[in-house]
Amino acid sequence: MTTRSDLPLRGLDPRRRQDAIAAAGIIAAEDLSLFQENTLLDWAEKYGSLIENAIGAVPVPLGLAGNFIVNGQDRLIAMATEERSVVAAASKAAKLCRPLGFSAVCVRTGSVAQILYAGLEQPEAAAVAVEERLGLIRAEIRAKHDTMAKRGGGLREIWTRMIPGARGRLLLVELSLDPDEAMGANAVTRMAEKVAELLEPVIGRRRTAAICDNRRSGWRVRASAVWPNACFADGLAERILDLQAWAEGDPCRAVTHNKGIMNGVIAVALATGQDTRAIEAANHAHAVRAGDCRPLSAFGRDRNGDLWGKIDLLLPVGTVGGATGHPVAACCRRLMGVGAIEDAGADPARRFGLNNAGVLAQIIGAVGLAQNFAALRSLADEGLPAGHSRLARNR
Ligand code: MEV
Repeated sequence: MTTRSDLPLRGLDPRRRQDAIAAAGIIAAEDLSLFQENTLLDWAEKYGSLIENAIGAVPVPLGLAGNFIVNGQDRLIAMATEERSVVAAASKAAKLCRPLGFSAVCVRTGSVAQILYAGLEQPEAAAVAVEERLGLIRAEIRAKHDTMAKRGGGLREIWTRMIPGARGRLLLVELSLDPDEAMGANAVTRMAEKVAELLEPVIGRRRTAAICDNRRSGWRVRASAVWPNACFADGLAERILDLQAWAEGDPCRAVTHNKGIMNGVIAVALATGQDTRAIEAANHAHAVRAGDCRPLSAFGRDRNGDLWGKIDLLLPVGTVGGATGHPVAACCRRLMGVGAIEDAGADPARRFGLNNAGVLAQIIGAVGLAQNFAALRSLADEGLPAGHSRLARNR
C-alpha cells in the first residue's frame, strides 16, 4: 500500500499529482474538485465574504512535503509558499532524520485578553473594587456568556494588573480562556468586552479598550529531532554548529536564522488557514525575550556524534474559526491527517488529551525545525544559489 510519505509525486505535472493523491485515497473526490475546478473569479465570488471589497484572490502555490514522521505518525505536509526550494528542503530534512523523525510536545498557554482603563483618578482603588467583584463576574460569565464551557474550554481566570504609562498609571483587567479547537483571539476579545460591560458599574465608566494579547495566547511547542552523523560529509555537521554559534552570538544573524524557521511555519499556517500575522508577532516577541534577538532553535552533538536539533515556538493556531473554515484550508488539514473533532480515536495524539489544534501545532513545530535544519545545511554546504539551481535542474 502507498504510504503518505512515499507517494510518487516527483516528475509529475500538477494535475497528475492531484490524480496520484486521489488514487492513494488521501484526498476525497470533492476535495480534488476544489483544486481542479476553481478559477480565481470563482474564489472571489465564493469566499469574498472573508474580506471587504474582494476583487479576486492572490494565488500562492500549494505544495506537499513528504517524509515527515511526527511523534511516530507519518504525515504529508501542506505548504503554501511562493519561495522556491522551501518544500523540497523541508522534505529532505525530514527524510534525513527518518525513521525516528520528529518528537514534539506542546502546552496550551490559553488565550489571553486585556482590558485597559486609562486616565482613572484612583486606579489602585479601582483595582481593589474590581478584585472584590471578580468572583461574581466569573460566575456570571460562566453561567451566561461562556459558549465554550460545554465543550470543555471556556473562561479560566480573570485578574488585575497595574502598569506605569506616559499618561499616568494604567489599570489592566486580564482574562484567559481555553478556546478549545479555535485559535481564540476573537472568542477571548468578545469575552473581554462582556467582562468590561459587567465592570462598568464597578469602575464607574466604560473601558478604554479591550483586545486579545498576541504575546500570551496559543500553544508553546517544543520539537526535536536527531540527524545521524552519517548524513553529513566532510565536516558539514561542524559547519552547521558554527552557524548555530553565529546565530547565538549575533542578533543580526539570529533574525535571518529565525526567518528560515518561519519559511516552514508560515507555509503550513497559510495552507491551513491560520492567522499568520499572529504567529509572526508572537515569535518575534519570543525571540527577543532575553533583550535582543536569539535563535528560536538550537543544535548540538549527542554522545554518538549525531546532530540533535530542537526548537521552541509559540503557535497560536486553531482548526475552527476564521479562515480555517475555508474549504482549501480544511482540505489541507485532512491531507495532513489532522482529523475532524469527531475523529478523536483515530489519532494517537488525541488519546493523550490533545485536540486537533494541538496536533497541528506540534506538526508546525516539527516543520519549523526541519526548515531551519535544511537552511543551515544548505548554507554550510553548497550555499543557497547553488542549491536553488540544482533543484531547478532536477525539477
Ligand atoms: C531564506 O529564505 C532563509 C535563509 O536565509 C535562512 C537562513 O539563513 O538560515 C536561508
